[in-house]
Amino acid sequence: MTHVVTQSCCNDASCVYACPVNCIHPTPDEPDFATAEMLYIDPRACVDCGACVTACPVGAIQPHSRLGEGQLPFLEINSDFYGTGPVGDLPILAKVAPPLEVKARPEPPRVAIVGSGPAAMYAADEVLTVPGARVDVYEKLPTPYGLARAGVAPDHQETRRVTTQFDTIAAQPGFHLHAGVEVGADLTHEELLRHHHAVIYAVGASADRRLPVAGAERAVSATGFVAWYNGHPDHAHRSFDLSHRRAVVIGNGNVALDVARVLARDPEALAATDISPAALAALRESRIEEIVVAGRRGPAHSAFTLPELVGLANARGIAVSVPEADLDVTGAGEESHTVRHKLRLLRELAARDTSGARRRITLRYLLAPERITDDGVTFARNTLEIGDGLVQAVPTGETEHIEAGLVLTSIGYRALPVPGLPFNEATATVPNTAGRVEGAAATYVAGWIKRGPTGFIGTNKSCARETVAALVEDYNEGRLNDPAASTAALQELLRSRRPDSVALIGSP
Ligand SMILES: Cc1cc2nc3c(=O)[nH]c(=O)nc-3n(C[C@H](O)[C@H](O)[C@H](O)COP(=O)(O)OP(=O)(O)OC[C@H]3O[C@@H](n4cnc5c(N)ncnc54)[C@H](O)[C@@H]3O)c2cc1C
Ligand SMILES: NC(=O)c1ccc[n+]([C@@H]2O[C@H](COP(=O)([O-])OP(=O)(O)OC[C@H]3O[C@@H](n4cnc5c(N)ncnc54)[C@H](OP(=O)(O)O)[C@@H]3O)[C@@H](O)[C@H]2O)c1
Ligand code: SF4
Ligand code: SF4
Repeated sequence: MTHVVTQSCCNDASCVYACPVNCIHPTPDEPDFATAEMLYIDPRACVDCGACVTACPVGAIQPHSRLGEGQLPFLEINSDFYGTGPVGDLPILAKVAPPLEVKARPEPPRVAIVGSGPAAMYAADEVLTVPGARVDVYEKLPTPYGLARAGVAPDHQETRRVTTQFDTIAAQPGFHLHAGVEVGADLTHEELLRHHHAVIYAVGASADRRLPVAGAERAVSATGFVAWYNGHPDHAHRSFDLSHRRAVVIGNGNVALDVARVLARDPEALAATDISPAALAALRESRIEEIVVAGRRGPAHSAFTLPELVGLANARGIAVSVPEADLDVTGAGEESHTVRHKLRLLRELAARDTSGARRRITLRYLLAPERITDDGVTFARNTLEIGDGLVQAVPTGETEHIEAGLVLTSIGYRALPVPGLPFNEATATVPNTAGRVEGAAATYVAGWIKRGPTGFIGTNKSCARETVAALVEDYNEGRLNDPAASTAALQELLRSRRPDSVALIGSP
């Protein structure tokens, strides 16, 4: 018997510290953690105590005897990560990061956090480990938790459970949420600094990357489509043309799989989720039968993660296929555990017959978008070549046109500049060192605005921890001035600027 990590793992590593025998890896202090697509339990060492199940905020861990049919592949994916040799010589418990050490000062830290997504919530949790600390979280939307609520797909209800953990963080003494307050519009950076020792920006990456091809304006951005089906107030009014039989999604990251799956799912299955009622009504009328997800490189470079591919391959009512001809594995690096499993599953999908299916997703490769027209997308056909030891996708000179009534671009998110802070246009991040904003005193960043738009919900935990450690060091060293104005003055200011703002969680 063993326990198994499954699809909804968001890499927050809570299970690592709950495990009494250190059999969940990679741990945050191990080098593979930064690139891991999930964590894995070593079946040779697991003593089946179940402690990790309780620790996991998203219900990702199951005893192997309780795995559903669609979860069975995770048994091998977990065990194969470790191989069959003897259990390695590991410390009995995973290495725990030392607690923050705070030098006593007359006024405990008062920290403003802009945004209430995962990075903000993990940062607030860290700050609140300091006795007497106060955190004021400013969120421009009426509801908190950023993409954990407005990004995660509605059919991923397990992942949405992470918001329960955020509720627990928010219920701590010293936490104050001001929802409906936009920093930059309702309050300035200088005003925040007057009322706090420091400001952490955790504003995410709310825009999208633009596709630099002719006709790109005819395409719909996945950013807007996701916001629409999740009921984001800025996108709730939108409508999309779902009256044709085929849609094409450009890009093959996890967001591309999310939008393809939502388009392909039986709407009655979505009705049991918290999808926006307007989106559900539109999807009930949808005539889309096939969603083509197009990557410009080969299958070994699929941007989606292995757990999401396993989930898609086993999604009820959706037929998934890959044309055999697209499965070019030139220089595929199959020594990587993740690549090996992805390719094996893609080969299985290539062998599936999906011809009679009502709704299907076709994964295509080696197609670089060249032009978007009223009737679909023309792609330049690529081939894989090895040069300087690297696999490169290079154009063959051939093109392929795929007809579609709806074209979505899902080529990544992009942060917008934060007024008053420096901004690196190339990386679309605020330049920083370990979270300290370059050239701006008492100002820090965490999450996607700090690192760029990659990583899972839990990735923001170690990111936020690093930022708060820098902040506490500056507080200890006297580099953060005590706030010039009181918390009562802050309440007064907020009432004058946003009388309608809601302190949804925490006392005023
Ligand atoms: C579509 C999508 C689906 C995803 N699904 C998953 C998943 O299933 N599992 C997983 O592990 N990861 C998932 N991720 C990744 C995960 O959501 C991100 O890693 C995480 O949300 C980034 O956190 P953040 O706090 O940096 O940004 P965000 O979550 O974007 O939070 C930023 C917050 O700041 C607020 N804000 C912005 N500007 C201001 C301002 N001026 N004043 C006040 N508030 C402001 C925004 O309204 C928002 O609430 C998904 C990402 C996307 C895009
Ligand atoms: N369930 C989950 O855990 C979950 C769900 C959603 C999102 N997320 C995470 O959120 C992050 C963002 O996801 P994402 O899907 O938006 O981004 P992503 O993973 O970075 O994928 C972007 C995709 O766009 C392609 N692309 C970029 N520029 C292109 C261009 N000019 N032409 C054609 N294709 C182009 C990329 O191809 P190349 O690879 O060739 O550059 C890639 O396929 C990721 O870290 C993701 O894992 C997680
Ligand atoms: S069941 Fe117990 S021993 Fe096994 S991975 Fe979970 S915490 Fe570790
Ligand atoms: S979500 Fe966190 S606690 Fe759950 S399995 Fe993944 S890393 Fe472990």
